[in-house]
Amino acid sequence: MKLPLNISGLSLPLPPASPQFIDLYNELRPRPGASTAQQLSTGLCAASASVAPKFFYNALGSKLFEAITGLTEYYPTRTEAGIFEMSHTQMANALVEAGITNPCLIDLGAGNCAKALALIPHLQPRQYVPVDISVDFLKDAAEQVQNSFPALDIVGLGMDFSAGLVLPDAVQNHDRVFFYPGSSLGNFSPDEALQFLQHMADPKQGKARGLLLGIDLVKDTATLEAAYDDALGVTAAFNKNLLLNVNDLLQSDFDVRQWRHVALFNTAQSRIEMHLEAICDLSVRWPGHERRFRAGECIHTENSYKYTLEGMKALLQQAGFRHIQHWADPNHWFAVFWAAV
Ligand code: AVI
Repeated sequence: MKLPLNISGLSLPLPPASPQFIDLYNELRPRPGASTAQQLSTGLCAASASVAPKFFYNALGSKLFEAITGLTEYYPTRTEAGIFEMSHTQMANALVEAGITNPCLIDLGAGNCAKALALIPHLQPRQYVPVDISVDFLKDAAEQVQNSFPALDIVGLGMDFSAGLVLPDAVQNHDRVFFYPGSSLGNFSPDEALQFLQHMADPKQGKARGLLLGIDLVKDTATLEAAYDDALGVTAAFNKNLLLNVNDLLQSDFDVRQWRHVALFNTAQSRIEMHLEAICDLSVRWPGHERRFRAGECIHTENSYKYTLEGMKALLQQAGFRHIQHWADPNHWFAVFWAAV
């Protein structure tokens, strides 16, 4: 609790405290980490080349993703925001029914923290823990949350949680609620998603009481493909910027002008796939390696799985969650699930 400053009888409010920040991503990982370089090399040298989507999120990538969320074609962000706006009271009630009044709210892939900013007044967390791999971007965002809620205990975590969810001691152990909006779970394969959910639902691991999860739903192909291939080309820039991040991490010499953005809905797998397609025969070099690509050859950069309401409910049940409920928009384009542990 901060007391006002008293200067010659004049009461001035204290400036907000700075959020605590723990960078487990860069501090534990010499730059570029040997394992990161190894992972990138292995993916690029494979017969079907791939780079994991976490490599989208350098500083520019995070800004480009923020721009994507404002695009007309990219419906998930505004649709999800509408669901929260319509149903935040019922969501807060669901937590109260589970016996949770002031959660420790752990925001996975927090980015600019905009979603949590809207939710914090309704959930009244005792501690807010934004977690993201894009460390500098998250630091700025956490400062902004602290400015909006000066008395809130904030612990920012720079962390690649796709590699595991072990949280440091600074994160309160009591009434932990994971907040995983934006359909980021869809960037895992269904098997990985199940594993990740099981990990969250395991009381020994995450010590969580529940999960608020935003998930994109299956819909017509044209709407889905437009969301990942917008008219302005922001998603194309986001995809190509991954190559610049790889150049930075691997000392490689990708030329982004030689690559084309491709986004398609794979109906059989129920996923949007993003690829980068070589527009000519070319070769890429990095220390100790060279990889040739023929014109038309692709690097697979992202999958974004789309679920049905029934499919997601079944996955949550399989992972060990219970008392599952959801809220959706009138078109059933997107849903927010509450699942208790
Ligand atoms: C972060 N994630 C949920 C986004 C998605 O829709 O799969 C990433 C994204 N890729 C292209 N546009 C947005």
